[in-house]
Amino acid sequence: MITVAVAGGTGGIGKTIVEEIARSGRYEVVVLSRKPSTIPGLGVPVVAADYNDIASFTRLLQERNVEIVISSLGLFSEESAQAQLNLIHAAIASTTVKKFIPSEFGIRYTKDILSFYPAGQWWIDAADLLRESHLQFTRIILGWTLDHYGIPGVPSNMNPFSYAIDFHNHRAAIPGDGKAPVAFLHSSDLAKYILAMLEQDSWPEYSAFAGDRMSWGDLLKLAEEVTGTKWDVTYDPIEKLEKGEGTVLEQPKGAMELPEEALRHLWCEFGIMADKGLMDITTEGLRNREFPHVSPLTVREVVETAWGQKE
Ligand SMILES: NC(=O)c1ccc[n+]([C@@H]2O[C@H](COP(=O)([O-])OP(=O)(O)OC[C@H]3O[C@@H](n4cnc5c(N)ncnc54)[C@H](OP(=O)(O)O)[C@@H]3O)[C@@H](O)[C@H]2O)c1
Repeated sequence: MITVAVAGGTGGIGKTIVEEIARSGRYEVVVLSRKPSTIPGLGVPVVAADYNDIASFTRLLQERNVEIVISSLGLFSEESAQAQLNLIHAAIASTTVKKFIPSEFGIRYTKDILSFYPAGQWWIDAADLLRESHLQFTRIILGWTLDHYGIPGVPSNMNPFSYAIDFHNHRAAIPGDGKAPVAFLHSSDLAKYILAMLEQDSWPEYSAFAGDRMSWGDLLKLAEEVTGTKWDVTYDPIEKLEKGEGTVLEQPKGAMELPEEALRHLWCEFGIMADKGLMDITTEGLRNREFPHVSPLTVREVVETAWGQKE
């Protein structure tokens, strides 16, 4: 049986990928983590790995006979970006790894976005390293994770994050005029697409998957319809976002803890990205049709399940 290692498989997106692959029974799964632990109920080993020691990481991949590495590291700092680069170096140096999926799961990160989103360089560097190597790789893009609008009513391992639309307080802070379309995919569907792709012999450089496409303005209308209330709404023009003055919504309990300024910064970057239409990855040649057995959740399905009036 082929062994798949999920680095960062203890985290929000990674854990769902681990669950999907492990439950299929078609692959050996091992989670790579900075500390050993267990994922209850799955019988998947969580193995301690030192991201700062490429040689020992290489040996670990070989000892476990890992053929496919899926990185789901939370890339939220220079340190984590370097950890992923070291993981790629170890995969390249190993004699066993043939395929690699870097942790992206966002928009198409290109040099064009660096002027307002310098962190984009982390994903570009990883892709450059993979492109120069002998490894097969694919960069998965999905737009915006749909989980944020279903937690806690729709199961997800991700941390809650109220971006643009806050169902808890019926408030919205919309980037721009809210008309630019955004692509959405739930992490449970991302995991299904990844499992399906593991069967394929070769991968294209980009794999774009979307569950739905909707503007923030239309999501707001849907939210008001489903909750049966009129919401308190702020629109942040692009000039305001460019000055780093976006309206940050209150974050729910359990959200990733970031210093206020760092959150505002990220918030404005996401807002610019959305307003420029870059979150609409449906223009990138979706691969959904290759896997017709996956019926991804729509925005309406998630919102109605999580926030609809109960009988
Ligand atoms: N498009 C979207 O809307 C969207 C939303 C969220 C996330 N994402 C993307 O999805 C990916 C995964 O995000 P996530 O929210 O699932 O991540 P996460 O839960 O924050 O982190 C995943 C795992 O990464 C590992 N990790 C964190 N910092 C590390 C470091 N410095 N060195 C090594 N390992 C580290 C941790 O595992 P251990 O502690 O076990 O080592 C953690 O459990 C990221 O690339 C992110 O940008 C996209």
